Amino acid sequence: MGSLRYLTAGESHGPALTVIVEGVPAGLVVTSATLGLELARRRQGYGRGARMKLEADDLEICGGVRHGMTLGSPISVVIRNTEFEQKWSEDMSADPITKNAKPLTRPRPGHADLVGMLKYGHRDARNVLERASARETAARTVAGSIAKDLLGQIGVGFVSHVVGIGGVMSRSTKVPVPADVEAIEASPVRTFDKDAEQPMIDAIEAAKADGDTLGGVFEVVAHGVPLGLGSYVHWDRKIDGRLAQALLSINAMKAVAIGDGLDAHAVRGSDAHDEIFWNEEAGYHRETNRSGGIEGGVTTGEPVRARVVMKPLSTLRKALRTVDVETKEEQIAIVERTDTCAVPSACVIGEAVAAFVLADAALEKFGGDSVEEFKAAHRSWLEALQKA
Ligand SMILES: Cc1cc2nc3c(=O)[nH]c(=O)nc-3n(C[C@H](O)[C@H](O)[C@H](O)COP(=O)(O)O)c2cc1C
Repeated sequence: MGSLRYLTAGESHGPALTVIVEGVPAGLVVTSATLGLELARRRQGYGRGARMKLEADDLEICGGVRHGMTLGSPISVVIRNTEFEQKWSEDMSADPITKNAKPLTRPRPGHADLVGMLKYGHRDARNVLERASARETAARTVAGSIAKDLLGQIGVGFVSHVVGIGGVMSRSTKVPVPADVEAIEASPVRTFDKDAEQPMIDAIEAAKADGDTLGGVFEVVAHGVPLGLGSYVHWDRKIDGRLAQALLSINAMKAVAIGDGLDAHAVRGSDAHDEIFWNEEAGYHRETNRSGGIEGGVTTGEPVRARVVMKPLSTLRKALRTVDVETKEEQIAIVERTDTCAVPSACVIGEAVAAFVLADAALEKFGGDSVEEFKAAHRSWLEALQKA
C-alpha cells in the first residue's frame, strides 16, 4: 500500500528463497545474526515434524546493508536450502534434467495441489506444492524481522501467543505484554496459560497418533503503536483491512478478528466499545481495549490486537480420499513430510506480516529517508497529540 514493499521468490525444496525488501530507511541495524534468530523462532514449536529439524537456515544478506547498517537501497536476503545439493539438486533443478522426475498425481484436499494444477496446466503437483508450501513464510519472516526492528525504533514491540489448539482454549483473558515474551517463548506451544499447555500438547499427541492434524487460534499484539496509523478515508487505507489481508495470506489462515471481534456478534454495544476519557497526564485514553487498538481503520494508541484462526494442516498421514489426475481413479492423497500442528510457528509468521503492515503505515505517516528522520517525525507527532 505505502512505500515499503517486499517480494519473495523460491520453492520449498529449491536451492534458495529470496526476499527483496524495498523502502527501508537508511541507518537501521540489520545483521544476518538477528534475521537468523527470527527464523529460528519460526522453526520451533511442539507439533512440527522432522522437516523443521532439517530446515537449518543458511542465510545471506546480499544487498542493501553494509557493516550491519541499512543503506536505504533495496535489501536482498537469500535463505539457502541446506538439503538442496544432497537431496533435491535433480528433482528441483532449475535447468533441464535428463531423467524424468516421477510426477505427483494425487492432489491433497485442502492444499493448493488440485486448483494449482488445473489453473497452471501442470501434470505434476510438485510444480504447485513447492511454492504453495509454507516454507515461503521463512522469507516473509525475514522481511517482517526488518519491519519489527524499524518499528522498535519508535518503541513498538510485538508479542504473540497461542490461544487455542484443536479446541483446547487458553482461559486467560490477560493481554500479554513484552515482559511476558520470555515465558511464552519457553512454552513448547507458545501459550502463557500454564493450565492450557499440557492439554494442548496432549491434543497434538492424540492427533499425531491418529495420523491426523490440528489447527488453532493465535493472537498477535503490537504494543506502543501510536494513534493515527491507517485511515478511514478510503477502503484500502484502513489498517484493520490491511492487517487482515496480510494475516489471511499466511498459508492455512481462515479467519482474522481485530480485538474482541470473534465475540462481537454476541454482545451489546455497551459491552463492545471502549469509552473515552481525558486527563492532564494521560490526555485521551481508554480503560478497555475491546477494539484491538483500531477504530475507523485508524490506530487508537492502544495495543493493536489481532486473533487468527488456522485450519488443520491438509497433509495427513491418515490420508484423505482424492482422485489420481492421470487415471481419474479414487486414490489416497499424497503424503509429503508433514507437521501435526504448526500454530506455534504461525504466531511468529503472524508477528512478521503484521509488523510489515504497521511499519508500512508508520512510514506513510512519518516518512524519512533515514531512521533519524523517521524517529524525529514520530516524536513531533507525539508532542502534537499531547497538545490536542
Ligand atoms: C508454519 C506453517 C507450516 C505448515 N506446514 C504444513 C505441513 O506440514 N503440511 C501441510 O499440509 N500444510 C502445512 N501448512 C499449510 C499449507 O501450507 C496450506 O494449507 C496450503 O498452502 C494451502 O493454503 P490454504 O490453506 O491457505 O488454502 C503450513 C502452514 C504454516 C503457516
